[in-house]
Amino acid sequence: MTVAAIIDGKAHAAQLRARVAELAASFERKSGRKAGLAVVLVGDDPASQVYVRNKGKKTVECGMASFEHLLPEATRQEDLIALVEKLNADPAVDGILVQLPLPDHLDEQAVVDRINPDKDVDGLTPASTGRLALGLPGLVPCTPLGCLMMLKDRLGSLSGLDAVVIGRSILVGKPMAQLLLAESCTVTIAHSRTKDLPEVVRRADIIVAAVGRPKMVMGDWIKPGATVIDVGINRLPPEPGKEKGKLVGDVDYDEAAKTAGAITPVPGGVGPMTIAVLLRNTVVAAHRNAGLELSADAI
Ligand code: GUN
Repeated sequence: MTVAAIIDGKAHAAQLRARVAELAASFERKSGRKAGLAVVLVGDDPASQVYVRNKGKKTVECGMASFEHLLPEATRQEDLIALVEKLNADPAVDGILVQLPLPDHLDEQAVVDRINPDKDVDGLTPASTGRLALGLPGLVPCTPLGCLMMLKDRLGSLSGLDAVVIGRSILVGKPMAQLLLAESCTVTIAHSRTKDLPEVVRRADIIVAAVGRPKMVMGDWIKPGATVIDVGINRLPPEPGKEKGKLVGDVDYDEAAKTAGAITPVPGGVGPMTIAVLLRNTVVAAHRNAGLELSADAI
């Protein structure tokens, strides 16, 4: 028996991309050029290749320019930094994304640190992270911003709600907690050392699971009516006779859906929103960098 409403990330993402396409067209009319996103991929990790290809395709579909830089696994740190500096200086590039993880011999933070914060559409530079913590305007990491958009669409005001974020990564957990705090939630960040996680989660009106452990959050951890956002994308081992295992989230969906008020599915929940928000951040950065007005509620 399912009681939860399903939060349709695909539909949310399509709506957001349509809005981005309108803004990209008006940006082009006003500035005389397309907004541009540069994506840098080092090495040949198949999953990252799929993401990067998808990003490029969706960027072009939204009427923006896509610049893909595919570098060999053996790329040296100084060459990667030189590319980032070149993109910083390129007026056709409004957003720069260096696909993570980088190969082990490269220093991820040192590379990210060199991205001009005004082009940091991933929201990962120290400047962007600081702006988020201080409540100043800036660019916010895509996955947590997508989660927040879906939560606000579902719940309206989040003020005073108890939110539990499971996971403390730089890409998701930490910025998610900051965004929820800015919406006046009472925020708990839980992680692998948290004592009695089920009890902590049972208090939550909002649960954001971003740990990367398949079905870790059990159905009986969910407070009746809570809103569950599942950021996890985990592939289970294949069943006999099957080539690929099933994709599941960090939440036991079937069980949680019996108690939750609303829940995101995997796939089709948070995933599609991440790229849509990346495109949103790019068109926002393009406007700001060109000195063009973009009202806060435009997108
Ligand atoms: N790898 C997985 N997710 C992301 C993301 O949001 N940004 C970057 N740069 N790399 C990623």
